[in-house]
Amino acid sequence: MSLCFSSNLFTLHSPKCHSYKSRFSSQFINQIQVNSFSCSLSSFPLCLSKPLKFSRQRTTPITASAETTTVEKDQSLFRNKNPEDINVLVVGSTGYIGKFVVKEFVNRGFNVIAVARERSGIRGKNSKEETLNELQGANVCFSDVTDLESLEKSVKGLDVSIDVVVSCLASRTGGIKDSWKIDYEATKNSLVAGKNFGAKHFVLLSAICVQKPLLEFQRAKLKFEAELMKEAEEDDGLTYSIVRPTAFFKSLGGQVELVKDGKPYVMFGDGKLCACKPISEEDLASFIADCVLSEDKINQVLPIGGPGKALTPLEQGEMLFRLLGREPKFLKVPIGIMDFAIGLLDFLVKIFPSLEDAAEFGKIGRYYAAESMLLLDPETGDYSAEKTPSYGSDTLEEFFERVLREGMAGQELGEQAGIF
Ligand SMILES: NC(=O)c1ccc[n+]([C@@H]2O[C@H](COP(=O)([O-])OP(=O)(O)OC[C@H]3O[C@@H](n4cnc5c(N)ncnc54)[C@H](OP(=O)(O)O)[C@@H]3O)[C@@H](O)[C@H]2O)c1
Repeated sequence: MSLCFSSNLFTLHSPKCHSYKSRFSSQFINQIQVNSFSCSLSSFPLCLSKPLKFSRQRTTPITASAETTTVEKDQSLFRNKNPEDINVLVVGSTGYIGKFVVKEFVNRGFNVIAVARERSGIRGKNSKEETLNELQGANVCFSDVTDLESLEKSVKGLDVSIDVVVSCLASRTGGIKDSWKIDYEATKNSLVAGKNFGAKHFVLLSAICVQKPLLEFQRAKLKFEAELMKEAEEDDGLTYSIVRPTAFFKSLGGQVELVKDGKPYVMFGDGKLCACKPISEEDLASFIADCVLSEDKINQVLPIGGPGKALTPLEQGEMLFRLLGREPKFLKVPIGIMDFAIGLLDFLVKIFPSLEDAAEFGKIGRYYAAESMLLLDPETGDYSAEKTPSYGSDTLEEFFERVLREGMAGQELGEQAGIF
């Protein structure tokens, strides 16, 4: 049952509005006096799917006092606690992976605070009620991760401390400005807000492709990764796990229904230009949840793939035709076609700057047509299937079988189809 707090029941205390840069310096936690301002809840909607039953009081204020040192020490001990005493803030909770991450933490008994927009999902298709329904078992906090002040006010309104922040945020479009706004700035907001309310561990859902950054969203993610690592280096109370998965099932399922309807399987070059070790939402969510308590995942960058061998597009297509009991029918597209289109778009952007996202989408498509989602071996400079760790048990074959039976419902790509 959902419970919405009426706006006049609460008074929230907001931190001073600091500039972003000063907040994110290694000293920022000392600069924030959490209880110096107050404002009414009405401007910061908070909606909880169940009454909060946190076992620990929020630590206020967070300052550089001796008291803070004791609190910080206490908080770093969260790994010794039972899951029900650990408060996990999940941002990006309504995404393809975020939803499963919330479910996994709830199933493992953690106290989950899921931050969501009032209209969530692809093109904001889900209402508040639908979001609450989707994130059952979590305390849903409707807030704006792109606005630090509002995020902090919302978290403060919960009146609990945060132990761990898990970010599954991602630009829904992959556009240049949106990538920087979400994959970098909003993600950074969640670190700043989380730290401000006591978080001692940050789990970041990143992507294996940031190893070879040629796209804006990869640069945005890498910048945040670097700042997170630096932050942890300078603040010995903070730890991190950076999860870099290979391809998700949804990114490989786009042709299943077309092929079922008799169309050929389309691939670039000979279909062997790239490979990946696809991982399911459930398996990845489980791996992410492991990052909270597993000591071997602390302060680690963790490339991760699903079970089994790496698969090229050719092998994925063959698998699909085998499942359908049909002779393979491939359409091989020369990769040069994409290079031509990208060259043309890059030229047009100089005349029509508004086309910059279209040009970026072309580059994203080109990237995934030719680059493997596998670990880039620093010794050889090549992608290595052997060195890409595997996790979980769900296979792409089972996924294809399911899509052939039930269709792609729930596996939709983002607003810009084809985006990883
Ligand atoms: N697809 C792949 O094969 C693949 C492979 C490896 C890594 N990855 C990485 O995995 C990550 C997550 O992917 P995903 O498919 O789970 O992402 P997704 O389904 O697009 O979810 C994105 C999440 O971010 C939130 N978000 C986006 N823009 C927002 C905004 N302006 N304000 C507030 N929230 C916003 C969304 O909220 P709303 O629901 O409100 O929009 C949603 O919760 C990405 O970083 C991606 O690069 C993907």
